[in-house]
Amino acid sequence: MERLNKISKIFNKIYYNLFVENFKGKLEYNFPPNYFRWDLIDYLINKYKYSDYLEIGCDQDQLFSKVRIKNKTGVDPISGGNIRKTSDEFFRENKNKFDIIFIDGLHTYNQVKKDILNSINCLKDEGIVLVHDCMPDSLSKQAVPRYRMSWNGDVWKAIVDLRQNEYLEIYTCKIDQGIGVIKKKRNSSILKLEKNIKDLKFKDYYKNYVKYLRVVDLKEFQKLF
Ligand SMILES: C[S@@+](CC[C@H](N)C(=O)[O-])C[C@H]1O[C@@H](n2cnc3c(N)ncnc32)[C@H](O)[C@@H]1O
Repeated sequence: MERLNKISKIFNKIYYNLFVENFKGKLEYNFPPNYFRWDLIDYLINKYKYSDYLEIGCDQDQLFSKVRIKNKTGVDPISGGNIRKTSDEFFRENKNKFDIIFIDGLHTYNQVKKDILNSINCLKDEGIVLVHDCMPDSLSKQAVPRYRMSWNGDVWKAIVDLRQNEYLEIYTCKIDQGIGVIKKKRNSSILKLEKNIKDLKFKDYYKNYVKYLRVVDLKEFQKLF
């Protein structure tokens, strides 16, 4: 996990609040206290008899070690998994196809969008892409550059952006910091944004996140998938 020094934290916070956005609203999601990303992955692996798993960003294998499946690939430039590369390096050389891909690497809009599109290119037709950390509860949790340890980044923007894509069916499951769920399928509810994606602020997310991300709770998710 990235270490932040005190000076850069203070500098990034001042910079963000002065030049990007300053908004105090805080969301209360009440994520289920006993259902996590590994439970969702286990549910999907068992239901669809998946055999090939890819994780982007493994850290200390908090998740990677818990995934029970025939073939596991874990990519991280620093620690965990079984491939020591950035996601870009991995996707450039990869020739394998996967059933289920969990994206949890660098949590910035551009990188997550790239990771999602690269994942779609190596996803089997009936496969699924999951994206962690889609639901920040406050401005500081999603600010880029980062200025706090507990951080989701602006992953949410990549989901909002791709919700406009005609060929991707996307929901966000309201568990464990928000998990984006993406299938290669015609989009049954194309998002129409009132602003350019680059102009979206946390305040827009705060007011519209249910529509933007197409949020479903666990029960609804299990009816859909
Ligand atoms: C939030 S942690 C992953 C946590 C883990 N997946 C879990 O479920 O607990 C993010 C990880 O992404 C890795 N990372 C950062 N930049 C990356 C990149 N460009 N490609 C792949 N992984 C990256 C970091 O080294 C870090 O270990």
